[in-house]
Amino acid sequence: MQFEHQVQDIVIQLEDIWKTYQTGEVSLTALKGIDLTIRRGEFAAIMGPSGSGKSTLMNVIGCLDQKDQGNYLLNGRSISELSANELAKIRNEEIGFVFQSFNLLSKLNLRENVELPMVYAGIGRKARTERAMAALDAVGLADWARHKPNEVSGGQKQRAAIARAIALKPALIMADEPTGNLDSKSSHEIMQLFATLNEEGTTILLITHEADVAAYARRIIRFGDGRIVDDPMKRGAVDVF
Ligand SMILES: Nc1ncnc2c1ncn2[C@@H]1O[C@H](COP(=O)(O)OP(=O)(O)OP(=O)(O)O)[C@@H](O)[C@H]1O
Ligand SMILES: [Mg+2]
Repeated sequence: MQFEHQVQDIVIQLEDIWKTYQTGEVSLTALKGIDLTIRRGEFAAIMGPSGSGKSTLMNVIGCLDQKDQGNYLLNGRSISELSANELAKIRNEEIGFVFQSFNLLSKLNLRENVELPMVYAGIGRKARTERAMAALDAVGLADWARHKPNEVSGGQKQRAAIARAIALKPALIMADEPTGNLDSKSSHEIMQLFATLNEEGTTILLITHEADVAAYARRIIRFGDGRIVDDPMKRGAVDVF
């Protein structure tokens, strides 16, 4: 049966996840009971209106922000059982993030930005420079390695953020609007790169507003007002592999 996978094939399992932001007296519930399962090797896209909670969900999945309620199993383990060190290691080495706001360090050039997760992972200088250059080359930025983020365009910053996410060859890539600042040709090149990584076994979860970007995914999860309003997996409608 196509949907009968082993438990260890599940990378992300969210059960009834809730998250409320409190700003002064105003509280806003951004996630209202999210149930979501992502299996190893999937290529899934999340779509939905602005403000519907997509980035909040990605931050919770990436352990950058905490849920208020619900269960979250990452690689079969409850994240509340993980020590701070284990969590930091998973975040750095097993998950590649492409943030909506890039999060590049302005004092470092693009190559040094791409190297940063490898510095934390304890990879030697020569190897990390080689890997950083290979990742920059893969996103078409080999000639821009010595430039600082403020010397390059929005699209180039975005590609540098993608290079940083893929350089350590993480098992899971999470990307929030990874093509939001790219023209359609660069968009398709980046999506082709993600598709190749996926074929090689990388699990990919991305957020996008663009239907032609989402079309690269085999599963499109639709978000609305803090809830999942459609998920083909739950309908049993597609084989995601
Ligand atoms: N740090 C925060 N403090 C308070 N409210 C927040 C915070 N982050 C997000 N929100 C609110 O939570 C809701 C969901 O925001 P989120 O950024 O997850 O939406 P999104 O679906 O990613 O939107 P977009 O498509 O515009 O990126 C919004 O109403 C937003 O204003
Ligand atoms: Mg967002």
